[in-house]
Amino acid sequence: MDNRPIGVFDSGLGGLTVVRQLIRELPGEQIIYFGDTGRVPYGTRSPETIEKYTRQDCNFLLKEDVKLIIAACGTVSSVAPHVLNTLPVPALGVVEPAAKAAATVTRNGIIGVIGTSATINSGSFLINIRKIRPSSQVVEQACPLFVPLVENGWIDENDEVTCLTARRYLLPLLNQGVDTLLLGCTHFPLLKPIISKILGPSVTLIDPGKIAATKCAQMLAENDMLCEKSGNGSLRFYLSDRTEDFARVAGMFLGRDVNGDVHTINIDNVDIPVECGV
Ligand code: DGL
Repeated sequence: MDNRPIGVFDSGLGGLTVVRQLIRELPGEQIIYFGDTGRVPYGTRSPETIEKYTRQDCNFLLKEDVKLIIAACGTVSSVAPHVLNTLPVPALGVVEPAAKAAATVTRNGIIGVIGTSATINSGSFLINIRKIRPSSQVVEQACPLFVPLVENGWIDENDEVTCLTARRYLLPLLNQGVDTLLLGCTHFPLLKPIISKILGPSVTLIDPGKIAATKCAQMLAENDMLCEKSGNGSLRFYLSDRTEDFARVAGMFLGRDVNGDVHTINIDNVDIPVECGV
């Protein structure tokens, strides 16, 4: 048994889609969420900057004495997975488990991947899918406009602007015959109704956050690190900047009203260890 909290971080509030799944899987756990709202987005930044931010984010969570860290961010999981591999606590990103699921689920071996520009440029999903299924064809598409559309709440399945944008991004994937689509960014699960409408029922959508939550539950169980309680867990938020519409945006990603402590921290003041071993 281990009653310490689970730490989850993301470039902003989108990672709450992962927390939403985590609460479903592990309702008794305490969760500490760090959203780097002062420096979002990560998806348009250089690998060097993303790596530096990842180290700071992890270091902050380690100071909070978390027992496991989840990088909910598709961009971090794609660009800086090596940082996660050297932490003193177990850590996981959203790429590997989801790539494995996609490689297993596909029937025709043609898998679509959508994400931020940094995620798609890294080729992370492609590399991990090919490790499991070398013959698969992976069709990648950066969808940077999805992020602000979701953050503005334009997620209704009849929203004209979002539907138009989604068609432009997704129809080429459909034309290439994908039967599975990996939603490689925290924000994209909120667009599932629109994406399904465009791609139709024969394309299976893979939500990496959901798969990461299941993997986290497995890792904790295997290592005897689950908490004692089976319900009534808690959620504490740390943000690097407090935005006025925090409750609205966070509630949208979390799928319910936000209740829990919210703290603002100065992430630049969190010491960066010389070696990422912390
Ligand atoms: N959280 C990021 C991701 O999942 C999306 C937002 C950003 O660009 O920072 O890739």
